Amino acid sequence: MAALTAWQALIDIGKIQAGQKVLIHGGSGGVGSFAIQIAKVPDAHVIATASTANQDLLKQLGADVAIDYTKQKFEEIAHDVDLVLDPVGRDTLARSYGVVKKGGMVITIVSRCDETELKKHEIRGASLSSHPNAAELTEITKLIEAGKIKPVVSQVLPLTDAARADAQAATHHTRGKIVLKIADEPKS
Ligand SMILES: NC(=O)c1ccc[n+]([C@@H]2O[C@H](COP(=O)([O-])OP(=O)(O)OC[C@H]3O[C@@H](n4cnc5c(N)ncnc54)[C@H](OP(=O)(O)O)[C@@H]3O)[C@@H](O)[C@H]2O)c1
Repeated sequence: MAALTAWQALIDIGKIQAGQKVLIHGGSGGVGSFAIQIAKVPDAHVIATASTANQDLLKQLGADVAIDYTKQKFEEIAHDVDLVLDPVGRDTLARSYGVVKKGGMVITIVSRCDETELKKHEIRGASLSSHPNAAELTEITKLIEAGKIKPVVSQVLPLTDAARADAQAATHHTRGKIVLKIADEPKS
């Protein structure tokens, strides 16, 4: 679901092209970590945000520019952006409109775009609710198998620890995804 959401935002709605400037907030999260790698497939220029502890991860995933949002305002670095992907919302979304160039786009997956801000900056906006798509999952699987996309898994927990995993996810500071293990894989 995280990869599909990133795919549907960047490829289906954003239609990103080589060389376009893409700002990905929460680049170390479930959606963001896939989004950075998916944006690099057509060779977009990726600017990504996360806290200090995740700066190395942003670079490893392929971000051209990594911004530590705890130390610097992203709008001081990102300008004339073609597309912003917002999995954070609130203040992060509110400050994103101003970094997009005319005709560009803000896609949020957690909120709604402010129509007044969109008009003021002459940009477009979209709120995405991702949907199942087997063909797109097949494309993503091929990219994973080819080593072009690496899922980031920060923890593997037994299913009995589902509540612990849920509490961690609710912090909105999880690196990539948490895997819940239902059983050991059968030995072949
Ligand atoms: N609309 C849809 O279809 C759809 C689909 C999937 C998910 N979602 C939603 O999208 C949101 C994101 O999900 P997610 O799985 O990517 O994980 P998440 O757990 O919400 O995001 C975690 C990442 O965001 C970073 N982060 C937190 N605050 C930030 C800030 N102010 N600026 C920049 N980065 C920040 C964290 O990095 P640090 O720890 O370094 O701060 C962390 O790595 C969730 O609310 C989820 O429910 C929506």
